[in-house]
Amino acid sequence: MLGVCGGIAAYKSAELVRLLKKRGIEVRVVMTESAKQFVTPLTFQALSGNPVHSRLLDADEENAMGHINLARWADAVVIAPATANMIAKLSCGLADDLLSTLSLAAECPIYLAPAMNQAMWRKAVTRENIARLQSHGVHLIGPEAGDQACGETGLGRMAEAETICAALTESTSDKPLLNKKVLISAGPTREALDPVRYISNRSSGKMGYAIANAAKKAGALVTLISGPVNLQPPGDIEIVNVESAEQMYDAIVPRAQDFDIYIGAAAVADYRPADVRAQKIKKQGEESVIKLQRNPDIVASVAALEHKPFVVGFAAETDDLENYAKNKMLSKNLDMIAANWVGGKQGGFDSDLNALKVFWRHGQKDLAMTDKRHLAEQLIRLIAARLNEKNTA
Ligand code: C5P
Repeated sequence: MLGVCGGIAAYKSAELVRLLKKRGIEVRVVMTESAKQFVTPLTFQALSGNPVHSRLLDADEENAMGHINLARWADAVVIAPATANMIAKLSCGLADDLLSTLSLAAECPIYLAPAMNQAMWRKAVTRENIARLQSHGVHLIGPEAGDQACGETGLGRMAEAETICAALTESTSDKPLLNKKVLISAGPTREALDPVRYISNRSSGKMGYAIANAAKKAGALVTLISGPVNLQPPGDIEIVNVESAEQMYDAIVPRAQDFDIYIGAAAVADYRPADVRAQKIKKQGEESVIKLQRNPDIVASVAALEHKPFVVGFAAETDDLENYAKNKMLSKNLDMIAANWVGGKQGGFDSDLNALKVFWRHGQKDLAMTDKRHLAEQLIRLIAARLNEKNTA
C-alpha cells in the first residue's frame, strides 16, 4: 500500500510504483487531497493497475475497499513522500483522512520516506514526531541530503525510488518456506444422499484459503485441495476441487508423500450416507432414518505414510479444547495441531476472525483472535520453525 502525500517528491513515487510492480509486488495507491495537486490519480492508476483511493467517507469506495479492508489487504504500508504534516498526524494517532486512518488501522509494518524542506526536517517538533513513530516500530527510509526543490540544500530530500524499493523488498522478503511443497485441504465436504441432497457442515474454507495464501507468500509451492466454497481461488497455486470426503481422500493421500508439509484445514465429514440413492428420495411417513458409514480419516492416513510429510491437523471443538486437541494429535500421529473453539459468538466457522491454540509434541502457542489472514501467516511461521527444527534435529 503506497500512500502519497502532497509534496513535490510525489513525482518520484510514480517511478517507485513501476519498480515495485517490476518485482512482482501488487501495489495499491492512496493519495491525500494535496498529493493530487502534484500528480494525477490517473498516473498512479495506470502504473499500479488498480484504482487509486483518496476519500475516507465515500460510500462507493468504502464498499469496494474501505479503510479497514485496505489496511488488512496490505502486507506493508509505505508513505512516500511522507510530509511533515502527515508525520505529525501519524505521531498523534490522528485519523482525519483515508491515509492517516488506514495507517492507524494497519497491523502490518509501516515505512515512511520523509520529504520536506531541510528546516522543517530539522525542527524540534518534527524530530520528536519521528522519534515517537520510530519508538512505535515505524521504519524510516531516508531522507537524503542534497539540493532541494525549494532551492535550499540539506537533509530532507526524499530517498530515490530505487532506495525505497530496495529497503522494502529486503525487509519483506521473509520466505521461511522457500520452495517447500505444501499440500493444503480446505472447506467442507458434501456427502450425497441422493442426486439433489447432501450432508455437510458450516465450514467456509476461509481459514484453509488464508493458509494457502500465507504459504504461497512464504515462498512455498502450494497445492490446495478444496471442498465446495464460495471463495476466490488464490492466484498462482494449483487447485483441485472435490466434493466428498472420499474424493478428497483420493486427491490427497496418494500424492501426500511428494510434499514437505500437509495441512489438513478441511472440515471433512466423519460419516457419509451408507446408501446413496440414484433417484431423489420421496417423502414417506413421519420419520426417516439415514444410515451413515464412516469416512476414511485423511489426515491420519497421511500421517501413517512411510514417507510422511510434516503433518498439521486442525481441531474444531465446542468443549475441553486442549484435551481433545492434544489427544487428537497423539492418536492421529500428527506433528502439530491447531485448535479453535467453534459454536461461540466470535471466530471459527464462516467468520473472518479466528484464534488458535497450537500444540506440538513438546510445546504450544496461543495465537490471539485476529483476522484469518494474519492468523494464517503466524501459523505458517510456526510450522516453518517446527519443520526447520525437526529437519536439523
Ligand atoms: O477428528 P476430527 O475430525 O475432529 O479431526 C480434525 C482433523 O482431522 C482436521 O485436520 C481434519 O481435516 C482431519 N480429518 C480428516 N479426515 C476425516 C476427518 C477429519 O482428515 N475424515
